[in-house]
Amino acid sequence: MDLRNKECIEVVVTSIFPSGQDNLLFELQLPDQGILPPYEAGAHIDVYLKNGIVRQYSLCGPSFNKNCYQICVLLNNKSSGGSIAMHKEIKVGQRLSISRPRNNFALPPAEKYFFFAGGIGITPIVVLAEAAYNIGIDFELHYYVAHIDKKALSGRLNTLELEKKVFFHDGSLGDTLLSELPCCLYDIRQKGAIIACGPNGFMKHLKDTACKIGWQPEQFYSEQFSNDGLITNAEKGSFAVQVASTGETFQINHDQTIAQVLSGKGLKVDLSCEQGMCGACLTKVISGVPDHCDVVQSDEEKELNNYMTICCSRAKSDLLVLDL
Ligand code: FES
Repeated sequence: MDLRNKECIEVVVTSIFPSGQDNLLFELQLPDQGILPPYEAGAHIDVYLKNGIVRQYSLCGPSFNKNCYQICVLLNNKSSGGSIAMHKEIKVGQRLSISRPRNNFALPPAEKYFFFAGGIGITPIVVLAEAAYNIGIDFELHYYVAHIDKKALSGRLNTLELEKKVFFHDGSLGDTLLSELPCCLYDIRQKGAIIACGPNGFMKHLKDTACKIGWQPEQFYSEQFSNDGLITNAEKGSFAVQVASTGETFQINHDQTIAQVLSGKGLKVDLSCEQGMCGACLTKVISGVPDHCDVVQSDEEKELNNYMTICCSRAKSDLLVLDL
């Protein structure tokens, strides 16, 4: 694994225990049990696994716990190996390299939050809901699971503070987002925010349906941990990138990424997932039109073309000038 430009923290796995069927909750601490870098609700870390696998996991521990991170990992046997490695190979006492927390999913300003979690998507949502509770903003949380046994972080959701605002939807009983939209969404609030995390199809259906009944696309906030939009080499064209601070211009061939070319020329480039999912490489665009391939920015942010992920996104224009 190339860890250039990756600011890593070494932690020890101090406990692993189940949190609903097929989910494991990992606790991570510094070797000296010191204070870990702070994070806001919605933040995630990258976990560097062997064979160069990097995975993003939301920090889902209670905010008061300053010397322990918690991540909850769903075992997905169809995945490319990250969750399998976490479930089968990581043991208590083992050391792991992680990134500093990064937050692409902070609470936006709103008068009421409508939280939606699908499956393991509950991990950032529970922390965001606790944050909303702590700052006194009204919310509802709808948590969809395939079966009630799969509920993760049940203890946290069952606390007195949250219990009246949390609604479980058990897919095995036919209670799914597809079957019925919760009535709270028909209470369209100009200053409300719909905040969702879950499978891509779950979030697409939620956004499409909410927009059909009158919500605005910019009221929808989501986080994805898979990127179906990555383009293959066959689809790529070449273009040029100019570094604004020096005026140097570099050609990006079809088989190169902007990040590869710039770091090859000695420029410092922050990288982590290299798949458009973590936000580490978001770079300000001064001119030119990016061809966005990330899932970090919302559709609305992508339309503005203010930032782009240089690990995977490309260009629709011949030249991009980047604020580097
Ligand atoms: S390195 Fe993760 S989005 Fe670019």
